[in-house]
Amino acid sequence: MVVIDDLDPGRRGGRSGGRPDPADLAQLERSPVRWSRVAALFGPHRWQLALVVALIVASSTIALATPFLVRLVIDEALPRQDVPLLAWAVAGMVAVTAVTAVLGVLQTWLSTTVGQHVMHGLRTAVFTHLQRQSLGFFTRTRGGEVQSRLMNDVGGMQSVVTSTATSAASNTTTVIGTAVAMAALSWRLSLLSLVVLPPAIALTRKVARMRQAITAQRQRHLADLHSQVEEGLSVSGVLLGKTLGAGPAQSQRFAGTSDELVGLEVRSQLAGRWRMATMSIVFAGIPALIYLAAGLPATSGGMTIGTLVAFTALQGTLFRPLMGLLDIGVSLTSSMALFSRVFEYLDLPVDIGDPAHPVRLDPATVRGEVRFSAVGFRYPDGHRPALDDVDLTVPAGATLALVGETGSGKSTLASLVARLNDPTTGRVTIDGVDVRDVTLADLARVVGVVSLETYLLHGTIRENLRHARPDATVAEMVDAARRAQVHDLIAALPAGYDTVVGARGHRFSGGEKQRLAIARTLLRDPRVLVLDEATSALDNETERAVQAALDEASRGRTTITIAHRLSTVRDADRIAVLHAGTVVEQGTHEALVERDGRYARLVGAAERDAVLAV
Ligand SMILES: Nc1ncnc2c1ncn2[C@@H]1O[C@H](COP(=O)(O)OP(=O)(O)OP(=O)(O)O)[C@@H](O)[C@H]1O
Ligand SMILES: [Mg+2]
Repeated sequence: MVVIDDLDPGRRGGRSGGRPDPADLAQLERSPVRWSRVAALFGPHRWQLALVVALIVASSTIALATPFLVRLVIDEALPRQDVPLLAWAVAGMVAVTAVTAVLGVLQTWLSTTVGQHVMHGLRTAVFTHLQRQSLGFFTRTRGGEVQSRLMNDVGGMQSVVTSTATSAASNTTTVIGTAVAMAALSWRLSLLSLVVLPPAIALTRKVARMRQAITAQRQRHLADLHSQVEEGLSVSGVLLGKTLGAGPAQSQRFAGTSDELVGLEVRSQLAGRWRMATMSIVFAGIPALIYLAAGLPATSGGMTIGTLVAFTALQGTLFRPLMGLLDIGVSLTSSMALFSRVFEYLDLPVDIGDPAHPVRLDPATVRGEVRFSAVGFRYPDGHRPALDDVDLTVPAGATLALVGETGSGKSTLASLVARLNDPTTGRVTIDGVDVRDVTLADLARVVGVVSLETYLLHGTIRENLRHARPDATVAEMVDAARRAQVHDLIAALPAGYDTVVGARGHRFSGGEKQRLAIARTLLRDPRVLVLDEATSALDNETERAVQAALDEASRGRTTITIAHRLSTVRDADRIAVLHAGTVVEQGTHEALVERDGRYARLVGAAERDAVLAV
């Protein structure tokens, strides 16, 4: 019995009908893949793979015995009423099926294991490699693309690659074996098959292609609908919809897409039905033609009934592997495109990485003097430098406040200390050691960053705090939370430290998230602290709490703070005023007010608004 739906050779690869995906071709054009590199991935598993091929060849060959057994039954055992022969032949048929089935299970087990192991290795390698990329890489890459490559491309590899390889092997052996067996049974009918098969295959492929086109269209619409659900019914989406009053428009758009999908679904179902109908006609038609040929004296060649039955059976098994072989090019292209995409990521140079010969900066003994010397920085796509010739020194334990209008380069300057960016010219040193000469691990222990874009992991508060320092004890955690003015808040929650922080921390207010982030940093206890304070105005009480947490955090540490509140700035040991990427003034609050320049003007405005620089 032939399972019709199993006849689509590109089923698992997603495409059939002999046309490679243009996106895949473009990908391979852009970054071709060397075969040796793919082979190297599978190298460690070569014995298992050899076994897989052996299993495939064995089971395809064994399966060929069935038609000959059928012939034996019809031509010999039945007419002669030879019961022992009949018993042997029937037992043989059952045995062939049983053996090929078991071999098939073994083969699937082996090939899936190999495929999954290779995929696991790649997935881990890509993840690790991407994590080492600089922040700049992620701001440059379209959101979601990184995640999609990791999950879909590496994930798709197992099914596409293993199924391409195993079906190529099994289809080849089956086609060769079947062809030989057919010729052995009857060369006349084999010749007839040569005439009949090609048009049948061409017809089937044409129908499959039509169906594929409709299915692809339906897929696109489904994806549209999916993203609309995502946009319309997520926390941020609903928030946006409500605040922009875009709800009704969103509903209307959804209804439109959903409505178009109705027609497409009907067409797609019909196309599927048509394809099955074509296949049934082909499958009924070819044996019928063979019977006809066998009945005509000119073509029969005096064959026995057993040979005829055996031949039709063989002929039936030829169709599927032939179709599969015709699509091998497409499957290969999509497999290679997957490799190409994954290799592209693996080959990305790490622009901010560990130095070849690291200088040790001991987190325990570092004093924490930070110095910017002639620092210039330009974003890869920036039309003007974000920083230009900045010279600043922050003595160990002192506080430097960076002020300046929006876009003046404050965050950029601060980002250089933790090597979120590397300066284009000049250097940043801690205790005289260039931060680029220190390992990233050491630097992370020395420099702590609390950014205004607080990111909380989806997990409990405890997990979020432990993320900063996995070996922190409960007492240390509570102490950090207390100093960050957030312990009381956590303790008041029903689940306390085991409260799950919702997706992206939506559960907490901005001020609460900031204090959690400060607690995280306090746990790490870095010598140098970089604070990029939120510009958003917090209510008075929250602000006081955050301020207290920040004061606590900066005590005894070298602190570089980007402050928008006059109170924070006033207390800083030193203030640097940035303008268009350069330091235009620096000194203490009193000295700068005295000077009556840009800072004095900012302060004048701030005294009216209580907020500085924005
Ligand atoms: N990832 C980026 N790619 C390109 N240009 C950037 C990037 N980030 C910042 N810039 C540009 O660099 C300049 C300095 O930006 P920066 O974020 O340092 O300003 P800022 O002083 O922190 O401003 P704000 O007070 O608004 O936070 C701006 O002109 C900004 O547009
Ligand atoms: Mg900023």
